Amino acid sequence: MTAPTPTELQDEFDALIAADQRIEPRDWMPEAYRKTLIRQISQHAHSEIIGMQPEGNWITRAPSLARKAILMAKVQDEAGHGLYLYSAAQTLGITRDEMTRQLIEGRAKYSSIFNYPTPTWADMGAIGWLVDGAAICNQVPLCRASYGPYGRAMVRICKEESFHQRQGFEILLTLMRGTEAQRAMAQESVDRWYWPSLMMFGPPDDQSPNSAQSTAWKIKRFSNDELRQRFIGMLVPQAEVLGVTLPDPELRWDEKEERWHTSEIDWTEFHEVIAGRGPMNAVRIQNRRDAHEQGAWVREAAAAYAAKKSAVTTEAAA
Ligand code: 3HC
Repeated sequence: MTAPTPTELQDEFDALIAADQRIEPRDWMPEAYRKTLIRQISQHAHSEIIGMQPEGNWITRAPSLARKAILMAKVQDEAGHGLYLYSAAQTLGITRDEMTRQLIEGRAKYSSIFNYPTPTWADMGAIGWLVDGAAICNQVPLCRASYGPYGRAMVRICKEESFHQRQGFEILLTLMRGTEAQRAMAQESVDRWYWPSLMMFGPPDDQSPNSAQSTAWKIKRFSNDELRQRFIGMLVPQAEVLGVTLPDPELRWDEKEERWHTSEIDWTEFHEVIAGRGPMNAVRIQNRRDAHEQGAWVREAAAAYAAKKSAVTTEAAA
């Protein structure tokens, strides 16, 4: 049997994509498809891991034992999401060490949203409601991403994110039913997180260099602006239930255009944050670097244990 030609391989790949079938690690794939997936999945994994910090900041200060337990479980979920995603990226031929190096050396992108501070308890509510809410809007379609290991990882991640979103909503609802000071704290937090949460979906469609190809490959199923619109549509009735105001005086449903009309998003701020100049970028990376260095002994101990175990197995087999 002769080996398939490059054209035959490409045709087979194109046919799988056209038929909405999954591409698996054993399958041939174009180099650019592999690179795009490594880029997106590793950025996503880094976001989950760096995303543990803003909320980790409140574990010791959560207002009750129950709140503390819920927050701890949530932060642990984010660690789990990071691990599934690093594993999915590893199936594409990059090592976990290389991805970690890229992150701690400041060479990797991760979501802009995690470069903002969390000065109040209400931020735990606003992150759950807005940040996890945006994450769900963006990530549910990724469950159908054409690359098998990515799509499958997203299924469990999305289930957990839905729980996170509800716990955030419930924190805000409790504050909004509380004292005047608590209501003011909730509103102030929503004011700070609203615009950055809209930026999570990425630049506007006409300035999104990766969208066309990623959509053709069925990694992306909806555009950045489509998902941003869907998210706003989800928030408006929920804000009403909460009794918070979304901080955009221009926000209204445009009947004629059949879309939400909003004020202009501050894209300068977005570009500053992803260039590493957001309020918390340096702190986030320094914390991750410190954690990596302080964890060296755990990695060494695990490697020594694995070497010892494999020596014992080899001896027993001899
Ligand atoms: N933050 C940082 N960088 C961003 C960004 C954001 N919010 N939005 C876009 N970018 C970057 C892109 O990565 C790309 O950079 P690169 O070419 O150097 O890699 C550049 O800006 C141009 O944007 P594009 O629209 O062309 O890029 P994509 O097609 O990759 O779309 C995306 C961007 C919609 C974020 C897409 O990558 C995606 O859906 N990623 C998976 C989801 C994800 O990573 N979410 C992060 C949040 S995780 C999270 O929320 C955890 C939860 O627990 C809260």
